[in-house]
Amino acid sequence: ARSINLAVIPGDGIGPEVVSEGLKVLSSVLPQDVKLETEEYDLGARRWHATGETLPDAELEQLGKHEAILLGAIGDPSVPSGVLERGLLLKLRFAFEHYVNLRPSRLFPNTETPLAGRPEIDFVVVREGTEGPYVGNGGSLRTGTPAEVATEVSLNTAYGVQRVVRDAFERANARPRKKLTLVHKNNVLVYAGQLWKETFDRIGQEYPAVSTDYLHVDAATIFLATDPARFDVIVTDNLFGDIITDLAAAVSGGIGLAASGNINPSRDFPSMFEPVHGSAPDIAGTNTADPTATILSVALLLRHLGHEPEAARIEEAVAADLAERHTGRTTRETGDAIVARVSA
Ligand code: IPM
Ligand code: MN
Repeated sequence: ARSINLAVIPGDGIGPEVVSEGLKVLSSVLPQDVKLETEEYDLGARRWHATGETLPDAELEQLGKHEAILLGAIGDPSVPSGVLERGLLLKLRFAFEHYVNLRPSRLFPNTETPLAGRPEIDFVVVREGTEGPYVGNGGSLRTGTPAEVATEVSLNTAYGVQRVVRDAFERANARPRKKLTLVHKNNVLVYAGQLWKETFDRIGQEYPAVSTDYLHVDAATIFLATDPARFDVIVTDNLFGDIITDLAAAVSGGIGLAASGNINPSRDFPSMFEPVHGSAPDIAGTNTADPTATILSVALLLRHLGHEPEAARIEEAVAADLAERHTGRTTRETGDAIVARVSA
């Protein structure tokens, strides 16, 4: 497209600081003839305190008219746990059918890893984004008593599983190594596990060039920590994906570099791009947060909208910047350094 109509949700804590660096990089990488329009939405802790609202339907509808959404971070210790998560972040992912939660991991040069021998890390996790234990299908009986019973049921539909598994096969098929690993726990979660495994095996027959593998999630954490080079594309459910992508971030440069896209591949709704990290209220407003994860999320956004050369330019600029980066950088200095490289 020759224009990008972007919704921006800076959110809480360090969100506004990292988002403004992301937008700086976005506007400097775009060719002159691509017009960037942004509209900011005031959502998050401040709004909730002021009005009691998390995400009113009218605003959800407005957001739905944009081509994509850039989100900083949501959450603050002053808001009860779960209010903004469910009322805002998950509401967006569910309403806009972000069934592919794309989380790439790459070990860039000169970045830290706790792993010995600096293994080659270059894989992507395709985390299901609209089902699993995240749907809020549960309850509690005899709440607060010694006899309390709580359930939180994982929802897995054939429709929901096949669409994310198919997307993962497509992504694996488009990569040089063409390898896809299903991560689940089908030795214990037998019903959901069977649906995932059978769907995976059936769709796999349509992709003979893709080699496949299955790992239980506990074993997957061992390999992520001891041999991450074995992974190319991983597909998994919403909760397993949440957990293993934090581990993936920890071994590949830290959470400050982890980007993500909440993608609606069918393009019925805008996709939403956000750093994997949270709002880090302890360092909010200090100009010290690392905006790199947001900047890499902007690259995912551009790729999704069909601006591949610009996406690649940002990723190359980030790699080059990281290679020379010294410690003690401010948020804005990092943004400026990457802007200088993408505009050079
Ligand atoms: C993430 C976060 C969210 C999730 C929370 C904040 C709801 O941890 O994006 O990984 O669990 O998906
Ligand atoms: Mn998480």
